[in-house]
Amino acid sequence: MQEKLNDILQRALEELIKIQNKDELGEFKVKFLGKQGELTSILRGMREVAPEDRPKVGALVNEVREKIESAYSAKEEEYNKIELEKELAKSAIDITEPGKFHEKGALHPTTRMFNKLIDICVAMGFKVVEGPEIETDYYNFEGLNIPKNHPSRDMQDTFFITDNILLRSQTSSVQVRSMENMKPPIKIISPGRVYRNDSDGTHSPVFHQLEGLVIDENVSMADLKAMLTSMMKKIFGESTKIRFRPSFFPFTEPSVEVDVSCPTCHGEGCKVCKGTGFLELLGAGVVNPKVLEMSGIDSKKYRGFAFGFGVDRFAMVYDGITDLRNMFKNDIRFLKQMK
Ligand code: PHE
Repeated sequence: MQEKLNDILQRALEELIKIQNKDELGEFKVKFLGKQGELTSILRGMREVAPEDRPKVGALVNEVREKIESAYSAKEEEYNKIELEKELAKSAIDITEPGKFHEKGALHPTTRMFNKLIDICVAMGFKVVEGPEIETDYYNFEGLNIPKNHPSRDMQDTFFITDNILLRSQTSSVQVRSMENMKPPIKIISPGRVYRNDSDGTHSPVFHQLEGLVIDENVSMADLKAMLTSMMKKIFGESTKIRFRPSFFPFTEPSVEVDVSCPTCHGEGCKVCKGTGFLELLGAGVVNPKVLEMSGIDSKKYRGFAFGFGVDRFAMVYDGITDLRNMFKNDIRFLKQMK
């Protein structure tokens, strides 16, 4: 028995030296140390050994097993080390390699201006209401005191889809929808896209407006002026001045066009404001009582004012952009400058 065990040990050590790779090492383990391995089969054959010899044989088998196991472990460790080194060599970090660079995106100037305006208005207690871009003639025109075939329609070149359905030409349509759906006091803003059949350096067939509407018992032009002044100061700075010029919109009476002192030159006159010191930025006025009545609001009890901001124009003034068309081209070179 001793001889047999020595033979196994001898062969095991010899084979171990010859091993070339991890697979062979695995095979070795099965052959000598596994459940069907040579040593185990000797232990299984213990029955044939005389009972008094069994402890001795058992101890011998264990001794041989330990020797083989420790030789095997040493070899295994050697292979693990080699593999780890190979792995490390493959994934070596080159600290001189330039890092991976992800370009950071930014919001479009119009979106940024929308966010700014909406934040200011929400802080003043306005609720944001949205309306459809495909509108009926009634909400875009008639409900705003612009009857069919009336010359005041010529103020806005419109994309009609049918005689009665159009792409809204102004967010004022949401005024009418809100007055129908809400009970005064009403204090809403409506941001959104509008469409007109124009296109040149200062007009785009699609642009953005933000409409404001306040209806309550004792509101006046003075409130409108105070509110707009405060908003413009928040956007363009404390020193901003505001100037009202008489104008005409069928849905407001009186109507005004509002100029804001040029944020670039502060009223001195420069290229941005074409030397005038002021920029025309919005339309506004006291809601025409006829418009209130059409939407079922008692014009004896309630009054209102409304304003409409041209959001792209605000953004252009704010970011010093000179051509309106740049706002809609999605030219990456332009957008990158606007970060
Ligand atoms: N809707 C008008 C326009 O697009 C602007 C406006 C809004 C004027 C609200 C007065 C009140 O020109």
